[in-house]
Amino acid sequence: MEQKELDKLLADMSLEEKIGQMIQPDGVFYARESETAVTGPLAGLGYTKRDLELAGSVLGIYGAERISELQKENLEKQPHHIPRLFMLDVIHGMKTIFPMPLAQGASFDPEMVYQCARMAAKEAAVSGIHVTFAPMSDLVRDARWGRVMESTGEDPYLNSLLTEAMVKGFQGNDLSEEFSVSACVKHFAAYGAAVAGRDYNAVELDDHTLREFYFPAYQAGIQAGAGMVMTSFNTLNGIPASINKKLMRDVLRKEMGFNGVLISDYSAIWETLAHGASEDAQEAAQKALEAGVDIDMVSPAYHSSMENLVKSGKVKEEWINEAVMRILQLKNKLGLFENPYKDADVLKEKQILLSREHRNLAREAAEKSFVLLKNENILPISGKQKVVFIGPYVNNPEIISSWAITGDSRNCITIEQAGKEIEEAKQWKFYQGCPMFGNDYELVGFREKTPDKMSEDEQKRLEEEAVSAAENAEVAVLCLGEHYLQTGEATSRGMLEIPDVQMKLLRRVAEVNKNLVVVLFNGRPLDLREISGMAKAILEVWLPGTEGGHAIMNVLTGKTNPSGKLPVSFPYCVGQVPVYYNSYSTGRPNSPKLRERYRSKYLDIPNEPLYPFGFGMSYTEFSIGSIKVNRCIVTKEEPVIAEVTVKNIGERKGVQTVQLYIQDEAASVVRPVKELKGIQKVELEPGECRQVQFTIHEKMLQFFGTDGCLRCEPGTFRIFIGDSSTVEENVQICYCDS
Ligand code: GLC
Repeated sequence: MEQKELDKLLADMSLEEKIGQMIQPDGVFYARESETAVTGPLAGLGYTKRDLELAGSVLGIYGAERISELQKENLEKQPHHIPRLFMLDVIHGMKTIFPMPLAQGASFDPEMVYQCARMAAKEAAVSGIHVTFAPMSDLVRDARWGRVMESTGEDPYLNSLLTEAMVKGFQGNDLSEEFSVSACVKHFAAYGAAVAGRDYNAVELDDHTLREFYFPAYQAGIQAGAGMVMTSFNTLNGIPASINKKLMRDVLRKEMGFNGVLISDYSAIWETLAHGASEDAQEAAQKALEAGVDIDMVSPAYHSSMENLVKSGKVKEEWINEAVMRILQLKNKLGLFENPYKDADVLKEKQILLSREHRNLAREAAEKSFVLLKNENILPISGKQKVVFIGPYVNNPEIISSWAITGDSRNCITIEQAGKEIEEAKQWKFYQGCPMFGNDYELVGFREKTPDKMSEDEQKRLEEEAVSAAENAEVAVLCLGEHYLQTGEATSRGMLEIPDVQMKLLRRVAEVNKNLVVVLFNGRPLDLREISGMAKAILEVWLPGTEGGHAIMNVLTGKTNPSGKLPVSFPYCVGQVPVYYNSYSTGRPNSPKLRERYRSKYLDIPNEPLYPFGFGMSYTEFSIGSIKVNRCIVTKEEPVIAEVTVKNIGERKGVQTVQLYIQDEAASVVRPVKELKGIQKVELEPGECRQVQFTIHEKMLQFFGTDGCLRCEPGTFRIFIGDSSTVEENVQICYCDS
């Protein structure tokens, strides 16, 4: 449709119709229970039958056949036959589940992340979906916060790269094209900075920190053309995001230039009452509209109050018109006025979902997401060795995460299944060893099934069986970790260990076999001190998705050489949290060598995390030579080219992620001790060398001053190029603005 046709349509619409476009009921009101993937608390929402008929979008229904039926009904009931949007959380896959987002962050591979989003979009589109509520672009420094698994980590540069890749992957070249769905950048803003890592808690951040660390990834998603942005649950400096006019109209719309659809998070407008920021639904609706929220997701606010607000003159109908026009424009970009059914196709659903091509990508992506945290010459293992696999993750197919709501763990490949496919591995044995949790652990409030309780006798039997097998094995591979329901929304944890019953098993096995490998499944950074003290190798596999077992076996046997790098710091212990690499020096910087008292340090733990951002090992060795620069001065016109020689000095082909960090040594505001500003992945054969160059231009040296303006100040900078954020060797350059 042309804009002028949209203008005419809007002018012809009644107020009732317009308000209808601004509400999004939960799918449970429209579909047979089995087809909806409902999320969030369902309360008495007061939708009338007419509300449900006029709703401009619906949350959480999927399936080509059902959505086509509903769209047909909708077109008949809508006075102007306006097509409905169907939206769903396709966070890291639809039916083929790719590694969870934090794991994809560990790949440091925007192209791979783009491909995963592309294939997820294809599966979602043929299932009738028009909008996915992804990527989550929240920067996260706090491992206590369960949704860290849904982020891509602690770094604004990496988060920006991967947000852009996901938006482009979901949206393709044009929203109207086949297999394109609109992305929705969330949660605006700074939801990952909840005080004490407690979900939904307040966020208190100054503008400078917001602009320097938390805003860049959202901005990257908007610049990549995201069709939608979602508000966050939290207050930001005292005002709930969903009614925060300064944040939404001044920052998001004006400063960041977002003119797409702004949707609230689930019931977030209504929750401003619980925040103590709105007296009633009417005030909540008024404030949210004034803040520029276009769609009210599953809350009583807009549908119960908006008509009265307009008729009483408390809100201007032009604000309604603005919101509805943005919604109509998104539908128009998706081509829904020409084809309200877009890509919904029952036959293609059967052909595309879980296709071999998609499974292959899921496996490759998982392999690239794994991080080898430790390896004292025990990995890779061979099928000829006598290996026992022990732990609740040996045969647990629930490896797709709590944000894979349309996935089915029955499609997953477990470690045992993949291991038994290896012909030569005739001596490999598999034992559960213990339940996921002891009987003292309760996962309350989850709709999904939590693990069944196991009798003490059965636990004893499993443990004895496993320990005895470990006694006679060359290598014991412990497959341990968090249960998938321990991470995701509303899963903040104050302790960062794996369940006690698993640690007990590990200690028992360690008594009889020192050749321990730990394969770790988790959604968040954990306190790995004890595990690291006992294991000779640790392979971080996160929640690896549908093809997890195959990917793990390929890496454990060396068929694939691990190449992942940590997108988040793993703390020494929970007392260190939040811990992140791009911190400030302080006036009394500590260093492990210093023994002085009056330094910024702890008495009882180190400042450094156990495993740092950007760290990850390989089965081969790489050397990275000294930095050479073509000049020492960056100007507006002239960049500096920095170059290193990377060499594979080991015996296996491998991939190294070469990282460029920059430190601004002195400025009008303090600057982080390091900032990631470039990554390049190089695959090298044994003995092979490669020159790796980074172009350092003025833009890379810019930062936000306390006035909120981006600037670059003359002065000296340090350039680091290495294989993790702990790189020390550097060269000094300077920036001159004349
Ligand atoms: C949730 C989440 C949000 C999700 C929405 C719809 O509560 O906060 O990320 O997209 O509801 O399911």
